Amino acid sequence: MNSSSAHTNGHHHSIGQQQAPRLGPGHRERGRRGARGGGGGGGSRLRDSRDSLRVSGEQKEVAPCTEFDKAYFHSYAHVGIHEEMIKDRVRTETYRNAIMQHRSSIEGKVVVDVGCGTGILSIFCAQAGAKRVYAVDASDIAVQANEVVKANNLSDRIIVLHGRVEDVEIDEEVDVIVSEWMGYMLLYESMLGSVITARNRWLKHGGLILPSYATLYMAPVTHPDRYSESIDFWRNVYGIDMSAMMPLAKQCAFEEPSVETITGENILTWPHVVKHVDCYTVEIDELESISTRFNFKSMMRAPLHGFAFWFDVDFSNFATSSTNNHSSSSITGPSNDPLTDGSQRKKRSNPNDALVLSTAPEDPPTHWQQTLIYFYDPIPVEQDQVIEGSVTLSQSRENRRFMNIHLEYSSGGRSFIKESVMR
Ligand SMILES: C[S@@+](CC[C@H](N)C(=O)[O-])C[C@H]1O[C@@H](n2cnc3c(N)ncnc32)[C@H](O)[C@@H]1O
Repeated sequence: MNSSSAHTNGHHHSIGQQQAPRLGPGHRERGRRGARGGGGGGGSRLRDSRDSLRVSGEQKEVAPCTEFDKAYFHSYAHVGIHEEMIKDRVRTETYRNAIMQHRSSIEGKVVVDVGCGTGILSIFCAQAGAKRVYAVDASDIAVQANEVVKANNLSDRIIVLHGRVEDVEIDEEVDVIVSEWMGYMLLYESMLGSVITARNRWLKHGGLILPSYATLYMAPVTHPDRYSESIDFWRNVYGIDMSAMMPLAKQCAFEEPSVETITGENILTWPHVVKHVDCYTVEIDELESISTRFNFKSMMRAPLHGFAFWFDVDFSNFATSSTNNHSSSSITGPSNDPLTDGSQRKKRSNPNDALVLSTAPEDPPTHWQQTLIYFYDPIPVEQDQVIEGSVTLSQSRENRRFMNIHLEYSSGGRSFIKESVMR
């Protein structure tokens, strides 16, 4: 088995720095904690994170706020990241449409917005008639959210809580949870755990979670232009043979996952579902490490350059929310399960359906783009040639918001391993 091991090259290709940043560097102590807007009838306070949290009948320790978490929240205090997210119309309008389509479940109800940022989703919920919205954010952006709420005369209905979802107290159950928690490759940033915490702490039985479901997909890709622009370029530079640069160029260009936009033409097969998440039932433990086996058959003859990952989230409330016991499984098996098979889900994931937010290559682009794991060298594949293997996505021990990606793949009688870290 050939092994393409990861190297540290000092290039520090931080997704947060070089691509559209969602996880930023730097760290500063969090500012004022527990900022609150005007009262609206509900009660809330900030608790000490050493308190224990009652989850499913057992006492669990609240995850401490680490230095990495503080840096993470600090990255969200910058206006640029919020501007980028809000200007992503596919994202923001799909949330607004979904909130308005669920108006009947929101009107007169209590909502918690997990990670409210500037407060935009909380305001959409207030516009949909929510009686009270708890807008929670641990980043200093909560201070601005509070100002935005005041400027829109919504302080009587939106209560901004400046603190972690894990630490703030809300002294009532909520009917609805809304959150925009998705990172690159869906699970980078590990924010879904905070949505689960909010669900376990406050959501009423039969309550609504927006979005309700999420699915991560992968597919093999061919991308000759990208390869030649970064690698073949060195073959002839101003008439000089600089191909000695090629090994370093491959290492620098392809060592780490790359967030970029591809099109449906780059995709060689139907996608495979890596993970389907049911936000009503998923538990924090199952997000620590996710493994799946894949078996693709190339639909064309082409050089195989790597794998692309993307996701969609679904705001449909399949079960009737008032009687929902949310007992369906959140685990996705290999794609022989028709509910979780990539092609089946693609049919449901119609981008014209406002209840699905898709980041697929064939759908309108979003700030998430797609995440590519490139091989150091392409593999020539024939039509119908099998590409099989496995992928494991696990939270990094160094920082649980980073993601380790372990890929094993084989095709045409050759096998490879690629390890990468999304940091
Ligand atoms: C992707 S942004 C979404 C912001 C806003 N909801 C929007 O849609 O524009 C996620 C926000 O969640 C906040 N956040 C992440 N984890 C959190 C936690 N455990 N407690 C409180 N806020 C959190 C971050 O600080 C960030 O502002």
